[in-house]
Amino acid sequence: MNSPLTGIIKDKRLIVCCGAGGVGKTTVSAALAVKAARMGKKVLVLTIDPSKRLAEALGVERSPPEPVRPPISKLRQIGISPPGDLEAWMLDPQVIADTVVEKYANNKEEASSLLSNRIYKNVTAMVAGMQEYTAVQAMHTFLKNDRYDLIILDTPPSRNALHFLEAPKRISRLLNGRIFRFFIPSDTSLIKRAVSTVLNKAMDISLGKTNRVELTTFFSLFSAILSRLNHNAGELRSIFKQKDSSFLVITSPAQEAIEEALYFEKKTRDDLDMPFNGYILNRSLANTNHKNYPDESLFSNHIISELTLNKVKDLAEHELAQMKAHTNLLENIRKRLGPSLFAEALPYISDGVSDLETLATLVDALPSN
Ligand SMILES: Nc1ncnc2c1ncn2[C@@H]1O[C@H](COP(=O)(O)OP(=O)(O)OP(=O)(O)O)[C@@H](O)[C@H]1O
Ligand SMILES: [Mg+2]
Repeated sequence: MNSPLTGIIKDKRLIVCCGAGGVGKTTVSAALAVKAARMGKKVLVLTIDPSKRLAEALGVERSPPEPVRPPISKLRQIGISPPGDLEAWMLDPQVIADTVVEKYANNKEEASSLLSNRIYKNVTAMVAGMQEYTAVQAMHTFLKNDRYDLIILDTPPSRNALHFLEAPKRISRLLNGRIFRFFIPSDTSLIKRAVSTVLNKAMDISLGKTNRVELTTFFSLFSAILSRLNHNAGELRSIFKQKDSSFLVITSPAQEAIEEALYFEKKTRDDLDMPFNGYILNRSLANTNHKNYPDESLFSNHIISELTLNKVKDLAEHELAQMKAHTNLLENIRKRLGPSLFAEALPYISDGVSDLETLATLVDALPSN
C-alpha cells in the first residue's frame, strides 16, 4: 500500500505547501515536484522567491514570462525521465503585479498611468496580495488546459499567504471601504461633485496637487483592476476545495514554526474549509534515511580516542537528544491528527539544500512508495 504522501502525489492535481517563514516551503515544494516527476507525472512547481542558488541549480531563471523546464541533463541527474517531466515557474511579486495591471487595465494608457504611479509602486502590501492572487490565476489556466498532471503551489512567507482564498471578502471590503468611496471619482450627483471639488481643493492644500491627483488616479484605476480580479475569485476558491486538491503544512521542529503550523492547519481546515491532508516536518532529525546519525554504540565501542571523546560526546548527546525530541514531536503530531491525516519527516541537511545533489537527497528521504 502507498504511504499517504505518495498517495497524494499520485492522485491529486494540486498541492499547496504553506507554513511559517523559512521552514522550507520552497525547498519541499521542489522536492515533492521532483518526486512526482520521478513517478512519471508532468509537474509544474510554482514557487515564490526561491533561493537564487536553488533556481540556478535547477537551471531556471527568475521570473520568466512563463514556466521553464530545467535542462534535460539536470532532469536526468535528479532521476526524471519521460513520461515524467518537470517545469518550474519562479514568480517575482513585482513582475506579477505589473502583469496583472497590464492584463486587466481597460487600455494601455490606463496601464502605463498606473505602472508609473508613485503610490502603486509603494503600496507593497497590496502588491503582495496580488502576487498570490495572480499565481492562483495562472494556476487556474494551467489546470483548465490540462497541461500538467500536477501543480505544486509554493506560498510566500507569511500568514497572508492564504489571503487569496479570502480575496473576495477582502477585496469587496476594500472596494466598499470609505477610503475607496472617498477617492474614486464619482459623477453621480451635482452635490457630490461639488463636495468632491471642495474636498479636492482641501486635499490639494494639505497634500499638494500632484500627490492628490496621484492618489485619486491610483484608487480609481486600481479599484477597477481589483474588481475584475474579484470576478472569478469564487471559481478559484472552488478549485481549492475540490477533492483533487491538497493542502500540506510544512514546518520545522522549532517551537515558533510549530505554533504557526497550527495556525495554518486551523485556517485551511476549519476556517476556509479546504482539503488539509497533513504535515511535513522538515529539517528534522526524526528522519534518518539519508545518513548515519550517531548511536549509543559509538560510545560503548570506543571508536573514537579518549582525548576527543568528551567533546564529541557532548555534541553527539545533544544530537541524540534532538533526535528523540523530533521523533516525539512527530509521534505527537501523528497522534493528534489521527489516521485520516498524515505527518512525514524530512531530514535536516547540514549544508542546506541549494544544489541538485542535496535536493535529490531530500527526495530520496521521502517515503519510497
Ligand atoms: N531539510 C533541510 N535541511 C537543511 N536546510 C534546509 C532544508 N530545507 C530547507 N533548507 C534551507 O533553509 C533555507 C530556507 O528554505 P526555503 O527557502 O525552502 O524556505 P521557505 O519556507 O520557502 O522560506 P520563505 O518563507 O522565506 O519563503 C534555505 O537556505 C534552504 O536551503
Ligand atoms: Mg519560499
